[in-house]
Amino acid sequence: MKNFIEVQNAEMVFTTKKGRFHALREIDLTVAKGEFVTLIGHSGCGKSTLLNLIGGLTLPTSGVLLCANREIAAPGPERGVVFQNHSLLPWLTCFENVHLAVERVFGPTESRAQLDARTQAALELVGMGPALQKQPHEISGGMKQRVGIASALAMEPKVLLMDEPFGALDALTRATCTTSCSRSSHAPRAQS
Ligand SMILES: Nc1ncnc2c1ncn2[C@@H]1O[C@H](COP(=O)(O)OP(=O)(O)O)[C@@H](O)[C@H]1O
Ligand SMILES: [Mg+2]
Repeated sequence: MKNFIEVQNAEMVFTTKKGRFHALREIDLTVAKGEFVTLIGHSGCGKSTLLNLIGGLTLPTSGVLLCANREIAAPGPERGVVFQNHSLLPWLTCFENVHLAVERVFGPTESRAQLDARTQAALELVGMGPALQKQPHEISGGMKQRVGIASALAMEPKVLLMDEPFGALDALTRATCTTSCSRSSHAPRAQS
């Protein structure tokens, strides 16, 4: 299988008040098309740091990160990210939050009706159909997390990077969301 994500000898050093902190050292990772990879490790071992590098949210101190043979230099629509802590814009409704992401990717090529339909479908997929017009302060932490998952799925990324995305969900909702994500036509496809 062809490698889709490649991390080669990545290092991440943070500059803190107490000096340099070496968070990642000599990290090599390859993820092939269609492969499902889980990073497991104790709290603080560097999982989020590595995910942020692959997402292009931060750049490594040294080493190379590639997505489909292109260097990762910034976030891109082919890499969807679901954050550990939900990150919704508080002044927008659930629908508007997801719509923002949809517009960014499909806005130049699709009609308003198509964008609306994509947004609605993604929110329904995670069971948020009844709360489309609610604002973040009106919904629970788990529901916010589901809106974040809907945003990522709606962009139809080629790879989905999830940082403990189901942590805020109860067991029943977590099972429903996981099944929806894997069965949906919106499920990410690792294709070049
Ligand atoms: N921006 C930062 N500045 C300084 N240290 C950081 C920063 N981000 C993360 N770290 C440190 O890097 C280590 C790895 O953090 P993180 O990747 O969040 O761990 P994990 O996700 O595995 O729990 C931790 O010791 C954390 O304190
Ligand atoms: Mg983390």
